[in-house]
Amino acid sequence: MYRELIIHYLSGTGNALTAARWLEEIAKAGNMAARIMAIDRFRRPLAPPPPEDTLIGFLFPTHGFCLPWYMLKFMLAFPRGRNRIFCLNTCAGTTLGRVPLPGLSGLALIVPAIVLSLKGYRVRGLVSLNLPSNWISLHPGLTKRAVSVLVEHCRKKTGRYAATLFSGGRAYHGLISLPVDLAISPVAFGYLLVGRFWLAKMFMANSDCDGCGVCANNCPMAALVMKNGRPCWTFRCESCMRCMNICPRKAIQVSYVFAAASAYLLYGLLLPLAIMAALHYSETAAAIIGSKSTAIVLVRAWFVLGVMFLFYRIVQRLIRFRPFDFIFARLTPTSLGFWRRYLAPGTGVKDFRREHTTDKM
Ligand SMILES: Cc1cc2nc3c(=O)[nH]c(=O)nc-3n(C[C@H](O)[C@H](O)[C@H](O)COP(=O)(O)O)c2cc1C
Ligand code: SF4
Ligand code: SF4
Repeated sequence: MYRELIIHYLSGTGNALTAARWLEEIAKAGNMAARIMAIDRFRRPLAPPPPEDTLIGFLFPTHGFCLPWYMLKFMLAFPRGRNRIFCLNTCAGTTLGRVPLPGLSGLALIVPAIVLSLKGYRVRGLVSLNLPSNWISLHPGLTKRAVSVLVEHCRKKTGRYAATLFSGGRAYHGLISLPVDLAISPVAFGYLLVGRFWLAKMFMANSDCDGCGVCANNCPMAALVMKNGRPCWTFRCESCMRCMNICPRKAIQVSYVFAAASAYLLYGLLLPLAIMAALHYSETAAAIIGSKSTAIVLVRAWFVLGVMFLFYRIVQRLIRFRPFDFIFARLTPTSLGFWRRYLAPGTGVKDFRREHTTDKM
C-alpha cells in the first residue's frame, strides 16, 4: 500500500521513541522502508514532503492535556502536502494491580489533526498509547512491574494499529474519549499559554551537580544554559523530563519550596499590595488589576511569570550557598531515595543522541 513510512517524533523520556521503533520494526518486517527522525532542535526551513505514497507519522507525548508546544511548532513549520498521515500521542499510563489505567489526551490529537488537514494532509490515524507516566515532578517513577505491564500492553496495541494503518486502513481509537477531551480543553489552553512556563521554573540542580553538561547537551529544545557550572532553565523548557532523568548524579530536583514561596510572594503578597496601592489613585485601576476576566487573568499571569523569572535567577545564585541549596534544592521529595527516575526500558542518553534529526532530512 505504502512505499515508505517516515516518522517524526518528539520524546522526553523515550516513550514516543519506543513507539516509533516498534512501528519502524513492524514496517520493515512487512518489507516497507521506514525511517524515524527526532525533531530535537529542528531548524527551518524543513525539507519538502516525501512522495505521496509515503505514510507520515507524528509521535509525541501529551503535555497538559495537549501536544507539546514544540511539536505543534514543528507541525506549523511543516510544508504543505497531500500524503496520508497519522498522529500517535503517548499518555500517562498507570496500573491498578495488573490492570493498565489510561491517561488523558485532551486536545493532543484534535489540534494536530486540524493543523495538518489545513495543510492538505489526509489524516488516516489518531491513536494513543498509555505508556508509563513520566511526570516525575508530580509522582515518583512507576515500579518496574507496572512499567513492564504497560509496555507489554502498548506493544500489542501498536501491532494492531500498525496492521490497520500500514494496509491503508483508518484508526481513530484516540477519539474515544472525545467528550472528556473537549470538556478539559480550557485546562489545555491554560497549560499551553501559562502553565508550562511555570513548570519550567521549578527545576533546580543541587550541589551534587558537577557541571558535566549532560543535561544541557541533550535537551531536545536547547532550553538549558550552563551558568557558572550549573544548568539554568529558560522559558524554552517544555518540562519533557529528560534532563531530570538522565542526570548521572540525580542532582536535578523539582523545588516545591520555590513553587510555594513564589506563589505566595506573587499572588499572596505582591498582587494584593498592587491592588491596595492602585486603590489610592483610582478604583477603576484597582478593579482592572484584580479583574477575573480571561484577558486580564492572562496578562496578569504573564506579568507574574516575568517577576517569577527574576526571583528564579536570584534563587539560582543563592543556591551556591549551603543553606539555600538545602532549602531550595534538597528539601523536596524528589531528592529522596524512593523518588524513582524514569526512562523508557531500553532507552539511555545514547539513544537521544544517535537518532536522526530533521536537519539531516
Ligand atoms: C509536563 C507533563 C505534562 C503531562 N501531561 C499529561 C497529560 O495531560 N495527559 C497524560 O495522559 N499524560 C501527561 N503526561 C505524561 C506523558 O505524556 C507520558 O508519560 C508520555 O508517555 C511521555 O512520553 P515521552 O517519554 O516520549 O516523553 C505529562 C507529562 C509531563 C512531563
Ligand atoms: S547532568 Fe546533572 S550533574 Fe551534569 S550538569 Fe546537569 S545537573 Fe549537573
Ligand atoms: S530543560 Fe529538561 S525538562 Fe526542559 S525541555 Fe530540556 S530536557 Fe526537557
